[in-house]
Amino acid sequence: MARLGLAIVGAGRMGSGHARLIARGVPEIEITAIADVNLEAGRRLGTELGGVPAFADYEAAITAPGVDAVLVAVSSVHHRPVVEAAAAAGRDILCEKPLALTMADTDAMLAVVSRAGVRLQVGLMRRHDPEYVRARERIAAGELGRPRLFNSRQYDTDPAPPGFLDPAVSGGIMVDMGIHEFDAARYLLADEVTEVSAMGGLVDPAFAGLDDADVAVVGLRFASGALGSVELSRRVAYGEDVRTEVHGPDGSAFIGALPVPGSSEPRFADAAEARAFAAAIREDRSVTPNGADGRAAFAIAVAADRARREGRVVRVHEVAADTASG
Ligand SMILES: NC(=O)c1ccc[n+]([C@@H]2O[C@H](COP(=O)([O-])OP(=O)(O)OC[C@H]3O[C@@H](n4cnc5c(N)ncnc54)[C@H](O)[C@@H]3O)[C@@H](O)[C@H]2O)c1
Repeated sequence: MARLGLAIVGAGRMGSGHARLIARGVPEIEITAIADVNLEAGRRLGTELGGVPAFADYEAAITAPGVDAVLVAVSSVHHRPVVEAAAAAGRDILCEKPLALTMADTDAMLAVVSRAGVRLQVGLMRRHDPEYVRARERIAAGELGRPRLFNSRQYDTDPAPPGFLDPAVSGGIMVDMGIHEFDAARYLLADEVTEVSAMGGLVDPAFAGLDDADVAVVGLRFASGALGSVELSRRVAYGEDVRTEVHGPDGSAFIGALPVPGSSEPRFADAAEARAFAAAIREDRSVTPNGADGRAAFAIAVAADRARREGRVVRVHEVAADTASG
């Protein structure tokens, strides 16, 4: 295969962001089709990319000439039909997080992907962020000793638009934002989260009426006995803040730094995720994070949302075993 022909489905914030990063930094990928129900948005992006054809119908883009793989960047509530159509067409898939908004949809998608025998990489990009990769290597090599404490924070500066923030569209703060930190927890500690406690608040009047929290603090217990905490905020003023720490008896790993107002780069500013996807296909290897990782991180997020709403400690197994509902 010369270059990997990629269809991008969803030309919104994330689809456009991916497209620009790929066009600038991943010569091994050629964007060969774009789809968006908003055809104008698709056409604008296609023109910006130098004349890539745009379609209103995602099936037309998936089956267009020169398409080997599909990047799914429609709203999370709409991922399932696109992923299933791409799998049915035999295309490898890079799907934005979360895979879906219910465990039942997630499992149905994973079954279709497995039957089709295609690759499914989930857009949990911390695993392709060099600082996270380095920390994982140090932890796996035993430099910290057995990890005992995980802390992670994710504070946004510019919250997504209200239509996106609706939990029925994005999954809400735990699923939409928290899933990155829950995946980072599993990835860095190579351990499973078994129990979750959570508190959330809706403090910013700009979000009044939203059936969700705009700040949240989540407690994690790992199978090894280690504990963790995750802090999420839809808005802070000083800059996008993503920092993670892992502590063990022999050492600590610190990822990220206090943002410097006006000069800090956003964390998601590299196409390493797409580059890893293309490399796995070219070298005929499995992708990471895979569908099972996407499911596991989603189960922790659902447990955290349940813990927040019901004010109790939730065992992740209670959610992970639940394929019949959200
Ligand atoms: N990894 C990250 O940090 C990160 C950040 C933001 C968003 N995301 C994820 O990216 C995805 C998209 O989010 P966004 O912020 O770009 O949303 P968005 O609303 O900006 O864009 C979604 C686009 O999909 C289009 N669309 C919806 N249904 C469609 C369909 N059936 N066929 C074709 N196009 C369709 C919409 O017209 C819109 O242009 C979500 O899954 C979200 O969770 C990930």
